[in-house]
Amino acid sequence: MSATPQPATASDGTTIPAWYASQRSVPLDPSLYAPAPDELAFYKGQTGITDDDELKAHVLKVQRDAYEVWPYPCIRRLAFTKLKISRFPVYEEVLKLGREREGAILLDLGCCFGNDARKAVADGFPASQVLASDLRGDFWALGHTLFKSTPETCPIRFVQGDIFSSAFFNPHLTIAPPSSDAISACIQSGSLSPLAKRASIIHASAFFHLFDERAQLALARRLNVLLSNEPGSLIFGSHRGVRDDERDGRESFAHSPTTWRAMWDSLRDADVTYGNDLASLAGITVLTSTSKWGSLSIVPDNDF
Ligand SMILES: C[S@@+](CC[C@H](N)C(=O)[O-])C[C@H]1O[C@@H](n2cnc3c(N)ncnc32)[C@H](O)[C@@H]1O
Repeated sequence: MSATPQPATASDGTTIPAWYASQRSVPLDPSLYAPAPDELAFYKGQTGITDDDELKAHVLKVQRDAYEVWPYPCIRRLAFTKLKISRFPVYEEVLKLGREREGAILLDLGCCFGNDARKAVADGFPASQVLASDLRGDFWALGHTLFKSTPETCPIRFVQGDIFSSAFFNPHLTIAPPSSDAISACIQSGSLSPLAKRASIIHASAFFHLFDERAQLALARRLNVLLSNEPGSLIFGSHRGVRDDERDGRESFAHSPTTWRAMWDSLRDADVTYGNDLASLAGITVLTSTSKWGSLSIVPDNDF
């Protein structure tokens, strides 16, 4: 008889729910390190490590350290080596906004090491217009180890916090007048509130599925408040999902394509609640990727 999974404690003292804790006892698998040529080139360019074996040892060491912080399956899968942000069809739009919309801000929410933010910058998105954010600063710090940077040498700015905490981001606050530098205001205040309606692009991946259904709706509402009303603004990413007739039995909730779309459709009401312009969604692409409403990755259970 298999033992019932028990919660565990993370390096910051918080409780790791039973499902994640059960994953931590499974040894990491170095054979999952299999970077494609463009991934290898990116990591060599960013780290300055040109020797394949040395790079592999370096990446796997950071993976082990990160897995101690919190045992996310995406860390187990070395998803951070996959240049995920650049694989979305909408990525060219992202880079175009960076080139053509003055001051366009890219927010990478749940950024972990910051690998996706760094990829966008490597591809030309202005670094001064990128804000990375995560609940755990330890992951961002490990990103410096991974990419051999320091807070002084890395041009991308980071703000730590829980997206659900109203101290960190209060979607009910009156939207501040446009500030010339919303990212600096976020850094100074240690919050995301100055970014309300200022983010031209929000990338959030492997993120929604961490939470229950109610929290995912709250998250969608929060992203909608962060998103600029300017046509062409976009939110994109991919998350664990199930087919319409499935449930996957995890503690968190996996949307199906139907419930996912219904959640984003329901945001028109959320706009009323937050007092924003009901028409604000018109012309704005919300969660774009392969369809208007974005990509929901249907993946085998345990993959995320
Ligand atoms: C599964 S990882 C995904 C990392 C990356 N986006 C990717 O696609 O590989 C989820 C990230 O979300 C962060 N996170 C979890 N809960 C959060 C919260 N409430 N607010 C902000 N970030 C959170 C975690 O610390 C972690 O770095």
